[in-house]
Amino acid sequence: MVPTRSADVKLRARRYDSPPMQVDLHESWQLGDVEIPSRLVLAPMAGVSVQAFRRQGRRFGAGLVCSEMVSCAGLSHHNERTLGYLRIAADEHPLAVQIFGAEPAMMAEAARMVADAGADIVDINFGCPVRKVTKTGAGAHCLEEPARACAIVDAVANATSLPVSVKMRRGLPNGSRTCLEIGPQLVEAGAASLTLHPRSAKQMYTGEADHSLTAELVELVDVPVIASGDITSRARAQTVLATTGAAAVMVGRAAQGNPWALSQIMGDDAEPSREEVVAELVLFIRETVRELGEQRATGFLKKFYGWYLGRGRFPKPFKQELVQLTKLDEVEQRLFAAAPGARFVLERLEDELPQGDEVLLDLPISIYGGG
Ligand SMILES: Cc1cc2nc3c(=O)[nH]c(=O)nc-3n(C[C@H](O)[C@H](O)[C@H](O)COP(=O)(O)O)c2cc1C
Repeated sequence: MVPTRSADVKLRARRYDSPPMQVDLHESWQLGDVEIPSRLVLAPMAGVSVQAFRRQGRRFGAGLVCSEMVSCAGLSHHNERTLGYLRIAADEHPLAVQIFGAEPAMMAEAARMVADAGADIVDINFGCPVRKVTKTGAGAHCLEEPARACAIVDAVANATSLPVSVKMRRGLPNGSRTCLEIGPQLVEAGAASLTLHPRSAKQMYTGEADHSLTAELVELVDVPVIASGDITSRARAQTVLATTGAAAVMVGRAAQGNPWALSQIMGDDAEPSREEVVAELVLFIRETVRELGEQRATGFLKKFYGWYLGRGRFPKPFKQELVQLTKLDEVEQRLFAAAPGARFVLERLEDELPQGDEVLLDLPISIYGGG
């Protein structure tokens, strides 16, 4: 019997648990006309993916980094805080800026602003499961409205010459396979790449990402697919790449306060010293203050202390102590007191970074009159 396409897919899915062949994570690949220098992508994460996170991700081996989701309505209203998300540093490239919204025309306008800001890729969010977003018809809700989803991709692809990618969940209800129906339609509408986080929107972050769906999606489309969800180690990255045929793996939570997860996935097993951990955290604090201002950064950074200092790196009460402090220079002092040698590591790190306003603030926000 001649195997049908669906039989093929089943074979692939069954092979999912078999021992993987090695895939070279250092290999470059193309997303549209953009060359991505490694098969590792840093995930977009709201409340996390600030510029410091993205620049750090590039330094630790991510071939592509992404902004957090940016509201197309906020861009359209020239909301100052939303426009701030379009600040792009020279050493972030290649960078995808992710936009969300439910109106094709407004999404097209947002895509033009993203392109003007200097992004390399426009990413569309069809994955956000949060009610505040889905009730407006945006995020994962679009998976339930394929015609609207395709109209959005079409409008965005026609508004810019940049490649357009789409990030989606498997569907809304548990067990949904909607991504397999809508995926090829989105490609037809103009998507140059698809990222699949194969959990349902209902699952939020519970259960497991089912990458047998990623393997099925790869079979159905002729654009690169990025696999997102539960990639926490080199072994897992290798398995998912080899068994799904995805062009790249995306890492999210594993990299929060732990850029070493990225270098480990890329093949460098060295555990960071306490001095390196403190130096990276202090650099992160300084860069975030520059980006968000001291007041906003103070609250924003609190969750990062546990992420950096946990994993048995420092005693638990130390994090509690830092979270209580109200001034970031006090946080720095305490960190340096706990690992004095970190000052020298930090000096070296800062010396290696490109410096200057032109590097850090590529976007003259005033061109949009928005703040
Ligand atoms: C705190 C947080 C914020 C997120 N924000 C976004 C977002 O803005 N856009 C998006 O497409 N996905 C977002 N995600 C989903 C991640 O990009 C990723 O698909 C998901 O976390 C699964 O990957 P992981 O297991 O490597 O974390 C977010 C996830 C987390 C944990």
